[in-house]
Parts: sequence; C-alpha cells; structure tokens
Amino acid sequence: MSSFRLAMSPIMSLPPSSPSVAAPSPPSSIDLPVRPVPGSYGWPLVGPFTDRLDFYWFQKPEAFFRKRMDKHKSTVFRTNVPPSFPFFTNVNPNVVALLDCKSFAHLFDVDLIDKKNVLVGDFMPSIAFTGNMRVGVYQDTTEPQHPKVKKFIFDILKRSSGVWATELTSNLDVMWKNIETTLSESSSASYIFPLQRCLFAFLCKVLAGADPSRDPEIAKSGYAMIDRWLAVQLLPTVPLGILQPLEEIFMHSFRYPFFLVSGDYNKLYEFIKKEGKEVIERGETEFGLSQDEAINNLLFVLGFNSFGGFSLFLPSLIEAVASDETGLQEKLRAEAREKGGSTLRLDSVKDMHLIQSVVYETLRLNPPVALQYGRARKDFRLCSHESAFEIKKGELLCGYQKLAMRDPVVFEDPESFRPDRFTEGGVQLLDYLYWSNGPQSGSPSEYNKQCAGKDVVTLTASLVLAHMFRRYDSIKGNASSISALQKAK
Ligand code: HEM
Repeated sequence: MSSFRLAMSPIMSLPPSSPSVAAPSPPSSIDLPVRPVPGSYGWPLVGPFTDRLDFYWFQKPEAFFRKRMDKHKSTVFRTNVPPSFPFFTNVNPNVVALLDCKSFAHLFDVDLIDKKNVLVGDFMPSIAFTGNMRVGVYQDTTEPQHPKVKKFIFDILKRSSGVWATELTSNLDVMWKNIETTLSESSSASYIFPLQRCLFAFLCKVLAGADPSRDPEIAKSGYAMIDRWLAVQLLPTVPLGILQPLEEIFMHSFRYPFFLVSGDYNKLYEFIKKEGKEVIERGETEFGLSQDEAINNLLFVLGFNSFGGFSLFLPSLIEAVASDETGLQEKLRAEAREKGGSTLRLDSVKDMHLIQSVVYETLRLNPPVALQYGRARKDFRLCSHESAFEIKKGELLCGYQKLAMRDPVVFEDPESFRPDRFTEGGVQLLDYLYWSNGPQSGSPSEYNKQCAGKDVVTLTASLVLAHMFRRYDSIKGNASSISALQKAK
C-alpha cells in the first residue's frame, strides 16, 4: 500500500470506555463536506418489499449494495434490508448502509453504537432457540451479563490452548482419511459433511471438554442437529439460491417455530450439561453465571459462532488454495514443511507468514459473516472517505463486509486474490481487516463486541492449511468437493 493510501486511512486510537480495543476511532469530519445520507426507504410496505425482492431474487446481496452505491455515488446511503413485508410487520428494515472501511469502523465504537439485539439486524430469532434467554452475542456492552459471559468464553479458550492443535489435527486426520476413501471409489468427494463432523467433534472437545463418542446419537448426528437449529432460526435472513419464487414464499416470508428443532436442541443441551460438567461449573463459580446461562451460552458459542463460522469459512479457504493454478500450492507446501517444527502446535504457524496471509486474504474477500449491524446510541456525525453525514439516535447502521473489504482507498487491486497481500509491509492492512467485528490488529475484550475467537480462528485456519500441506503434495477441488489429492512423498 502506498504512503498516500496510509495517510488517507483512519487513525488507530483507543476509545475511552474500551481500554483494550484498537478499533479505528471515528475520524475527524473537519475537512469533509456534510451531506444528507442519500437514498430513501421508498413507499411504506412497497419500498421494503421491492428491496427484499432485489436483495434475495433479482440482484442478490452483492449487486444489491453495489448498484445502490453506484446510483447514489456514495458508500453511505439509506436502504431496506430483509426480512420485511408482508409477515414481518414488527421488523423495521430501514438501515443506513456502510460500504467503505472508514464508515464501517464506526460500528466498533462502543460510545456511539448500541449492539443490543442486533446480531442479524432489527430481526431477532425467538429466544426459544437459546434456552429462553438472550445469550451474550445479543447483549450490549452496557449490560451487566455481557462481561461475565465474554470472560467465561476467554477462560475456555485460554484453558483449551494446550490441547487445541492436537485435537484439531487428530480430527483432521480422520476427515482426510474419509475423503481419501471416497476418492478411491469415485472421481470427486464432497467434503462438507466430513468437515462438519470433524469440526463438531473438535469443538466439543476443546470448548466443552465433552467427547461426542460417549453419546452414540450425538456422535452420529450432533453436527446435523446444529445445522437444523441454525437453519430454522436464520432462514428469514439467508439467501439460499433455491428456485424462485419458492424461496421467497416459503423461506423468507415468516419465522419458523422453535418446536421444529426443540428435540435437537434439548439433546445437545443435555449432552453439554453431562459431558461438559467441569466447564459449566467454572462458568458458575468463577464467572457468576447460572448453570442454565453457562450451558446456553456455551452451546451458542460452540454451535452458532464456532461451528457455524468455520462451516462457512473453511470451504472458501480450501477453495482458494485447491482451485489455484498459479503455483501457490508449492509455496504453501514449502512453508508448511520448513517452518513450525515437527509436530504442529498452536504457535507453529506464527512463522508461516504466507499461510497466514492466505487466511487473511480469504477472510477479506469472503467474510463469513457478511453483514454487521449497530444502532446509534446518540446523534453523531459519521464519515466516509469523501463526506460526513448526520446520523440520528436510534438509526440502524448496516455494514456490508464484502464491499467494505474491497475499499479501493485502502486495498490496492481490491477485487483480486493476492495471496501475499498481508505479508511484510502488508501487515499494516490488518488494521482494516474487519471480519471479526473489529480490526484484525484489535483486541477483543469484555468492553467491546469483537469476536472472542478472533485470534484462534485465524490460527486454526492456518493450522488447517499447514496440516493439509504436510499431508499432501497437491490438492484439487472447490468449495464443496475434492477431485484429486496427491499424498506427500
Ligand atoms: C470462522 C469462525 C468465526 C467467525 C466468522 C466469527 C465471527 C464473529 C462475528 C462477525 C462476531 C460479531 C457479531 C456481531 O455482534 O455483529 C462474532 C462475535 C462473537 N464470537 Fe465469533 N466468529 C467465529 C468463531 C468464533 C469462535 C471460535 C469463538 C469462541 C470460541 C467465537 C466467539 C464469539 C463471541 C463470544 C462473540 C460475541 C462477542 C461479544 O458479544 O462481545 N467466535 N464472531
């Protein structure tokens, strides 16, 4: 990145009420022209409905935001995001969209932004899905339970760091063996379910200290139970790509009730309660949570944040390397084998700079959680690179990661996958990598809303690549299947 670009970028500083956050504080608006936020919400009911059809059907999310950005000649504008009319009458779809790094960074300022109940926008799945309570991700930093839950999760991560890499690599070995067996009998092997089985077994062990093999039903179907639980609560907010108008009529028009997955959730709950006893007890004694709070929060972090997040992220990472034909695999293979010692540990990847950069670049171009929301706590002035805008208390801001992470002011050649973008001088760009609801150079804490797993996610993904290139010389495939594997000689 040129020095001009760096000079254009927001200054990193610490907001006063969040001592350990390194999020870019909202930049000064002194020299920027103030303009009204462009765009409108359209006619009541009609505007939200036509935007909904554009979002899911006629344009799809990326083109939806890009077309409006071009039309308004602004990376900040008003629009509607679904779910909306006709059956979501209690959901307000009006948002101010933020599509560049500078405006997006306001979402991380806890003085300006209230994160209460806005995980997936103004729509919130029923709390029946989370044991009839609002788990930590739905809580704002001003709520007393938020720091307790977040510190509980940090404690789990700290205590599991010693077994993290061994549990991961042993479960990856099982997964790759299964894929090899399928490949020996057919020309391609779908890896989504083997990957999810691997993730589920690994995450139960490292986060809950619970071994799925102690419960045959959970061992066989635990991952599918989580898939169903996630799908039913999130359907109104997820573009599926099913034949239209069936998707609009049946998937995006109403909430699906919890009872459809209550059997699955209850079985997972009982499994965690029994097999994750030690972790649950620490939640109660060290962090002041009730047993029910500890279990529901642990289950959410395990199933929604971790399992859900990795299930979206790892296929795009595997695709990025398995479909590459530029010689990247040779470089990754050399790094994976030359660095990090004979046995992979969590810190083995710290010297694998190219592998880490590939992980960051995949997160930049394919952020697993594309939309981030926050409500203005008060009136304030929000800046893009070119203009300043008056935001009113209560307005919902909606950052769309996919375009913000292609901000041409910050990222050179922003649409291209550049494997080494974040190596050497490029590490400064980590200030602008926002997949975790905060910059990759920031620190999640109980005072902010950045993903508690920010570091462990990128370390785990780097380990997945390092393990893959120690096991194989080359690999061919895409985001759902593997078509060729050449074992390490
Ligand atoms: C690829 C995997 C993951 C992705 C993509 C991901 C992404 C995110 C994002 C975008 C948020 C912010 C949501 C919002 O408020 O707008 C978040 C929050 C959170 N994540 Fe992650 N996450 C992942 C894995 C993990 C892991 C492994 C853990 C811990 C074991 C974790 C724990 C949390 C917690 C506790 C929060 C809520 C933070 C708070 O309330 O202050 N996540 N995650």
